[in-house]
Amino acid sequence: MEPLMHENRVFHPPEDFVKGAAIPGMEAYNKLCAEAEKDYEGFWGRLAKENIYWKKPFTKVLDESKPPFYKWFEDGLTNASYNCLDVNIQKGNGAKKAIIFEADDGTVTEATYQDLLDRVCKMANALRKMGIKSGDRVIIYMSMSIEGIVAMQACARIGATHSVVFGGFSAKSLQERIVDVGAVAVITADEQLRGGKALPLKVIVDEALALGECEKVKNVIVYKRTGGNIPMTAGRDSWMHDVVANESTSCEPEWVSAEHPLFVLYTSGSTGKPKGVQHSTGGYLLWAILTMKWTFDIKPSDIFWCTADIGWVTGHSYITYGPLAVGCTEIVFEGVPTYPNAGRFWDMIAKHQATIFYTAPTAIRSLIKAASGDESIHPKNYDLSSLRLLGSVGEPINPEAWMWYYEHVGGSRCPIADTFWQTETGGHMISPMPGATPMIPGSCTLPLPGIMAAIVDEAGHDVPNGSGGILVVKRPWPSMIRTIWNDADRFVKSYFPEELGGTLYLAGDGAIRNKDTGYFTITGRIDDVLNVSGHRMGTMEIESCLVANPLVAEAAVVGRPDDMTGEAICAFVVLKGGRPTGDEAKKIATELRNWVGKEIGPIAKPKDVRFGDNLPKTRSGKIMRRLLRVIAKGEEVTQDTSTLENPAILDQLKQSL
Ligand code: WTA
Repeated sequence: MEPLMHENRVFHPPEDFVKGAAIPGMEAYNKLCAEAEKDYEGFWGRLAKENIYWKKPFTKVLDESKPPFYKWFEDGLTNASYNCLDVNIQKGNGAKKAIIFEADDGTVTEATYQDLLDRVCKMANALRKMGIKSGDRVIIYMSMSIEGIVAMQACARIGATHSVVFGGFSAKSLQERIVDVGAVAVITADEQLRGGKALPLKVIVDEALALGECEKVKNVIVYKRTGGNIPMTAGRDSWMHDVVANESTSCEPEWVSAEHPLFVLYTSGSTGKPKGVQHSTGGYLLWAILTMKWTFDIKPSDIFWCTADIGWVTGHSYITYGPLAVGCTEIVFEGVPTYPNAGRFWDMIAKHQATIFYTAPTAIRSLIKAASGDESIHPKNYDLSSLRLLGSVGEPINPEAWMWYYEHVGGSRCPIADTFWQTETGGHMISPMPGATPMIPGSCTLPLPGIMAAIVDEAGHDVPNGSGGILVVKRPWPSMIRTIWNDADRFVKSYFPEELGGTLYLAGDGAIRNKDTGYFTITGRIDDVLNVSGHRMGTMEIESCLVANPLVAEAAVVGRPDDMTGEAICAFVVLKGGRPTGDEAKKIATELRNWVGKEIGPIAKPKDVRFGDNLPKTRSGKIMRRLLRVIAKGEEVTQDTSTLENPAILDQLKQSL
């Protein structure tokens, strides 16, 4: 991060962008921040009234009586699906395109706001007919599709809490989530299509349910995507097209409290099993809407494209809810950025005239590499003049990638919103406001108005600008995590630790503010969570998975920097049968990688697997991970190793490259 502190290129928002912007200039930004500082509840109350349709208005903005279990707009009644669909239709936008869907093979399907409402209502009625009611949980295990968004919105319409599981997770990961959340139904597809290949979904659901403890699941609803041959269990499984066939296109929404759980989304933490991050309805939706307006400066004429998957929080806030709630047209893409070639994103921007494009640094880096090997898919060969704004999310964007994105994709005319946020925060926390904030490559710049982000030391005291520390948020905000599903204790311990005084929200990232500008730069996770291609992976989770393999005696997993994926997973493994070498080591490494792929999902497969007779441990038996991090990087160990029980092991692990 050192070089970043010396980054001094500044990019100002173009003048004509500023003119029409929702936040036109720093003065407007500062004014909003000052309003929040002066009257925090008044600020949020005003915005909630202006931006959300309330069936019954709230009378209290924020309830802080039981910290850190904060409640926002609690006695207000609303519905997320109603706000996304009916409200736009009432404004006269029924015939407006809501979604332009491009399939893996390039086939384009469109849905207007009216189409979407009709489909959501039919699905919602079908779910109700199955006995699914407000407060029930429904697992959604689908790939990118209009049907996936319809499924989520249909749950929201009847007050059922959805929990989307990314289509790349294994049967075991899926089963754990089904059990933890206590799902009564699973919505899936026969198969998914990615990069020309059909991959299973329904078969994995069957496998997951067969793993046990899933008795509560009474219905599995299957969207026919590929028509692939899959078994259907009578009495439990039904086709989506059959269950909606005779349903009405109107469906009275379930009016829920603003605090009603809209969704639970599982994410990796620093210990063992994934955490079910629980989000609210009112506060969450409010921030999805405001960040669409502020960070993305969304206008009715925009064609917005977020390339995330609905299996991640970015897909929730910036595909399923935010863009629809503000009534814009959005692009939804089923496939992968490299199929049929690495010009796919640029081709789609040109074809659909996208005006706002939001993607991850890992995708940008891989496309830079592809374009340097094949000129024909370089963005300069595509007409990207429709673009007016770019966004980045998921991991720090390195200045080189920022510059390439700015110059070659944005034609040096589009601001870049480098948005720092998390599954737990519901929406953007720190990001340039595109019509206001001067941008510095590699810095996510300043907190959004109303977000009281700060940097503190290990005792929770503010540190001066220029000194690094721990990123915290000092005041609750509407879209924050409400609790961890089934584990309120873990919620308090993970996010409001006593060491920091118990009232600061701990993001889990390190950060530093620039001495002169006060700009934030995120320096990476401070816990045992890795960020691989923008996906969060808990090292403990991978370790326990490795140790569960019959061959493995002990394992330690650390991250190392990787040019393409940001971080790469590196596993140090001790086998029960002794240290393998040569071809045998290669064979077992492959076996272990596949094991992790099968147990957790392909995204968790370690890139490096190294074998030792032992792991470096202190005399008290604690694994010295900091030494493993050094070895993983391929660097010399220069740190103090005097507490190490078995120093000779370091040489062995170094050699096992
Ligand atoms: C990292 C994704 C730097 C960070 C929305 C955070 C970032 C974790 C950025 C959350 C960014 C996300 N700059 N780091 N712009 N955006 N991160 O929950 O470490 O999948 O804690 O949410 O990603 O990942 P999550």
